[in-house]
Amino acid sequence: MAMVLFCSPTSTSRATRMGRFLPTRLAYALVLLLLLIGCATSDFDHLSCSDEEDNDGLTDTPGAPVCSSQDRKALLQFKNAISSDPNHVLLDWHTSNSNCCNWTGVTCDGGTGRVVRLKLYNQNLKGRLSPGISGLSSLQVLILDDNDFFGTIPSSLGTLESLRRLCLSNLPSLKGPIPESFGHLKNLELLDLSSDALSGPLPSSFGGMSNLQVLYLYGNNISGTIPASFGLLSQLYKTGLSNNQIEGRVPDSFAFGLTSLVFLDLSNNKITGLPKDLRSLSSLQLLQMSNNPLMSGDSVEGIATAPRISEIHLSSCMIKGPFPAWVSRLPQPDPRYISEEVTSSLDLSSNAISGEIPPALGNLTNLQNLSLENNKLRGSIPTSFVQLQSLQRFNVSYNNLSGKIPQASPFTTFDKSSYTPGNRGLCGLPLGPCKS
Ligand SMILES: *[C@@H]1O[C@H](CO)[C@@H](O)[C@H](O)[C@H]1NC(C)=O
Ligand SMILES: *[C@@H]1O[C@H](CO)[C@@H](O)[C@H](O)[C@H]1NC(C)=O
Ligand SMILES: *[C@@H]1O[C@H](CO)[C@@H](O)[C@H](O)[C@H]1NC(C)=O
Ligand SMILES: *[C@@H]1O[C@H](CO)[C@@H](O)[C@H](O)[C@H]1NC(C)=O
Ligand SMILES: *[C@@H]1O[C@H](CO)[C@@H](O)[C@H](O)[C@H]1NC(C)=O
Ligand SMILES: *[C@@H]1O[C@H](CO)[C@@H](O)[C@H](O)[C@H]1NC(C)=O
Repeated sequence: MAMVLFCSPTSTSRATRMGRFLPTRLAYALVLLLLLIGCATSDFDHLSCSDEEDNDGLTDTPGAPVCSSQDRKALLQFKNAISSDPNHVLLDWHTSNSNCCNWTGVTCDGGTGRVVRLKLYNQNLKGRLSPGISGLSSLQVLILDDNDFFGTIPSSLGTLESLRRLCLSNLPSLKGPIPESFGHLKNLELLDLSSDALSGPLPSSFGGMSNLQVLYLYGNNISGTIPASFGLLSQLYKTGLSNNQIEGRVPDSFAFGLTSLVFLDLSNNKITGLPKDLRSLSSLQLLQMSNNPLMSGDSVEGIATAPRISEIHLSSCMIKGPFPAWVSRLPQPDPRYISEEVTSSLDLSSNAISGEIPPALGNLTNLQNLSLENNKLRGSIPTSFVQLQSLQRFNVSYNNLSGKIPQASPFTTFDKSSYTPGNRGLCGLPLGPCKS
């Protein structure tokens, strides 16, 4: 991610602006070094809220600028809405110390003197989020995670159109809806509202956040369906919507424009199905959909059309009937895209799938993890499975399988608990010998 931040045109101009305050040669060397470091790492995790070093390209400048009176007023409004500050982090926030650019948690732009970053995470701050914060009209980074804010998110935050990162996670008393006005945040790259107590639907304006790359809304009480405009988020890379009350089918429009999406977590919701055609989700590698009431395997048959899909979790989805036919059409995972974060996995455990395991599954030769435990499968383990030489985890326990376990590695070396209890008819290593 550092790559995207540092190598994008806007970041170059930021680096240049910074350069004005340094001797030219040193500045060039520094910019070059930043580019080298930045471009060598392409890890999106740099786009996070909690990075200790401020990896957002904004730096405190020596020879501190003097803050604007508009920003000072907005910050004092923010402070006035705080009822408890046991760590005294806002002690230096007062009118007699008029340069708000060196107040704790505040960073100003060296050129304009405007506040560009406000960062006060895990400070035990208790109070409301003042709508007056919208006075910080040049704000690019707002990080207030892990505090004790209550009340709702002020809708005026949606006017902060320069925002690139907005982090309001782990605020367990923050209630109410995500403001519809967030659709105006067209420069936002990271939105983290996870583990709050938000409710109401996802705003229909969501698609307006056209630069959004990382979206975490997991662990709230968000309800309703995924809005159609979601499919406009063409830069979206990582999305965590798990542990909410999101319901219904994911709209077809979802599949039109999410061409950058790699990680999608929809687990623990009330979602009933996916679009039939997911071909335009051309980057999707990991789909976590466990614990949704899908009822039938057909409701997610679109998965097989996602060209790079590699890790699929559909555990506890109330899937009934025969083994989903689309599983035989899954693309062969490309080992080049399998990383520490993505495995080649198929997890269909804890459903009510009946009938036999399709032999074509043995064609997914890079599969690392196959979880079929807790279903109603019968018949034998297909002999084609001897091709699954990359399997690290295999589980078919709590089914009604019979016949000979493929007598080859890795199947003979898996733990017995991969096969039993259940499957009384299975035999061969690591279980007992087959009769005659
Ligand atoms: C804050 O900035 C002013 C100059 O604008 C300076 O006089 C003062 O010493 C600074 N305070 C701290 C704590 O750095
Ligand atoms: C979540 O929202 C539902 C209504 O959508 C409500 O019945 C439930 O009490 C809420 N749960 C929490 C923990 O707020
Ligand atoms: C899977 O392998 C079988 C042989 O086991 C072969 O006949 C079939 O064409 C393969 N299917 C696909 C989709 O590659
Ligand atoms: C395999 O899947 C199980 C269940 O989803 C998970 O706990 C385990 O970490 C996975 N292992 C690998 C090697 O991917
Ligand atoms: C298991 O399968 C056998 C036939 O292979 C069948 O007779 C038996 O009823 C099945 N048991 C369950 C619990 O489905
Ligand atoms: C297989 O799944 C069962 C049921 O969840 C579990 O008890 C067992 O430990 C698993 N075995 C392996 C090797 O993963």
